[in-house]
Amino acid sequence: MGAMEDEVRLIRADLEEIEELDGPCELLRGRLEGTPVVLAKCGIGKVNAALAASAMVQAGATSIVFTGVAGAVASELGIGDVVVGNKFSQHDADDTAFGNPIGIIPGEPPFWEPNPDLSAAVLDALRELEEPRGHQVVAGPIVSGDQFIAQAEKVAWLRATFGASAVEMEGAALAQAASHLGVPFAVVRILSDSADGDAVADFPAFLNDAAHRGRDLAHALAKQAPRT
Ligand code: ADE
Repeated sequence: MGAMEDEVRLIRADLEEIEELDGPCELLRGRLEGTPVVLAKCGIGKVNAALAASAMVQAGATSIVFTGVAGAVASELGIGDVVVGNKFSQHDADDTAFGNPIGIIPGEPPFWEPNPDLSAAVLDALRELEEPRGHQVVAGPIVSGDQFIAQAEKVAWLRATFGASAVEMEGAALAQAASHLGVPFAVVRILSDSADGDAVADFPAFLNDAAHRGRDLAHALAKQAPRT
């Protein structure tokens, strides 16, 4: 799954035996490295990610990997580094009026965790691809909300409140949906900006680089997946 055209276009270009499916977003079935895959371009935001997760499972997906870009939150990470989510929260969920901490949705767990085996496989593949290129690859908390963050004060708040490594707009919604659907998931985010005053300029300048790196990861994962 990706949210934007640049997050999926090169993966789509490499798909074979493409079949277009009806769904709430662009949804394709095909083969990558001989492995059957479903590719979804979900669109931006939490609701779109949740809808796409459901549609992908209906289309036969047995695990879901999101690849895309995010803003850096951890101070030791910078543009080009890669975060694989190990904990997901929705920073814009607010039930504090009823005494819950910020980020909690009543009836939902305090945060979501990805499938450990899938995340470990994704981390291994990324380390092989990205470390020789000079990029850090880390496992860390990802926070999501229906907000593009472009303010240093908000970044400091996300770091202090959630211990976040990266901020984006879909991962925690995929996490919530995948946990309800019972499907393993992982989220990979290549850092396109620092979610500060420069983010609006940095973000579009980085998308082409992210597109190539997302494609490389998709190929590496498809090569090791069961070929049924
Ligand atoms: N995706 C990439 N950069 C982002 C940011 N700064 N805020 C939210 N989502 C993003």
